[in-house]
Amino acid sequence: MLTTLWLLPSFAVPVLGLYVSVRCPHGKQCQRALLSNNDIFLHCNSSGAQWHYFFLQDETNWYSHPPSVPNIEIMPEGSILIKSPLPSQTGIYNCRDKNGIQVVQYEIDFQDVSTLHITHRGLGQKPLQNETLSLGGKEIIFTYWEPWQDCNRCGKLGERKRLGYCYIQEPLEKPLPCWFYLGDARLWSSRMRPEMQVEACNVQCETQLGQVTFDNFELSEESGSAWLTCPLGSIYRPITWEANNTPLTWQGQLSGQDVTTILDPSNGGRRLQVFQPAIYTCFVQQEFMARFNPRPGLDTLETLQREEAGQQPEAGRARKGKADTVFKGLKLVLLVGTLLGLLGLLLKLFRPSRSKRSNRTLLVK
Ligand SMILES: *[C@@H]1O[C@H](CO)[C@@H](O)[C@H](O)[C@H]1NC(C)=O
Ligand SMILES: *[C@@H]1O[C@H](CO)[C@@H](O)[C@H](O)[C@H]1NC(C)=O
Repeated sequence: MLTTLWLLPSFAVPVLGLYVSVRCPHGKQCQRALLSNNDIFLHCNSSGAQWHYFFLQDETNWYSHPPSVPNIEIMPEGSILIKSPLPSQTGIYNCRDKNGIQVVQYEIDFQDVSTLHITHRGLGQKPLQNETLSLGGKEIIFTYWEPWQDCNRCGKLGERKRLGYCYIQEPLEKPLPCWFYLGDARLWSSRMRPEMQVEACNVQCETQLGQVTFDNFELSEESGSAWLTCPLGSIYRPITWEANNTPLTWQGQLSGQDVTTILDPSNGGRRLQVFQPAIYTCFVQQEFMARFNPRPGLDTLETLQREEAGQQPEAGRARKGKADTVFKGLKLVLLVGTLLGLLGLLLKLFRPSRSKRSNRTLLVK
């Protein structure tokens, strides 16, 4: 019975375009749990759509759009983009057409990603157990697991993850996302957390076109680190990072072996904190997305110039001028590269997700 509930076919999270999106069939209400802090698109197929929001925390107020909530953008074709949703934005998202007739209604539980319980099978770590909501109570708190995401690498040992959301079920009742179950009740249990589970995987490669973005970075003087962001990465998709061609794994992070980098769990490793000036590359859905080169620090550059110039400060200055021009040129090249990459992405968006082969020929020509 549970499975039929979960497998409503038209209500999945397909990877569509730049953002992960949620769709609900026309005229229907759809309920689901997602994670806070990760951008999400809610579809409403109606031009001139009117959106109204009701946040469970507020209890009484419906918000209409506009005047709006700052992190929600309405798109020309009627959908909305919620950027970095907050747990407090758990609530009802209602879309009506221009005549005021309901097109879809979403009930979204944005579960707090900062409480994410992360476990790795390879390290023998166990996900959370089922618990009852209160002592002797009949309500079960459990994790509803999404399917495993794709492996983050191919042709080599990789890792894959799946997300799990907190749900509560009363006997013979339909389970509800935890914060929808509680509503405005101020109950709390440490079991009420979303989860992420990781395991090793190994899959064959299909040859794929990479989407290449180049960028460079500098370690900040204060923190001795830099944050890199993988374009198009999201907690809902497989991401992998490599440092000087060596993969960074959740296993390495969770076991404390890899201390030279930190994968940010709140976005599924989309952001990486690095402490070493190495070459970092990232892949999304096994496709090459971006490469980050360490920018030679100003200190290094100046030292080099001073050494080269010796006692000729004039020549040194001239050379620095030249170096600046070269840098500007490089920046321009990088910019053009980025734009080309984005163009490639746009092209990619318009191909059907499963027919990679036919599109490849098109793009290669
Ligand atoms: C969107 O609505 C239009 C007009 O109502 C319809 O023709 C079209 O098939 C719908 N598209 C989707 C994806 O539901
Ligand atoms: C936990 O609870 C859910 C929902 O009642 C149930 O489907 C699942 O089998 C339970 N898991 C275990 C290990 O008991």
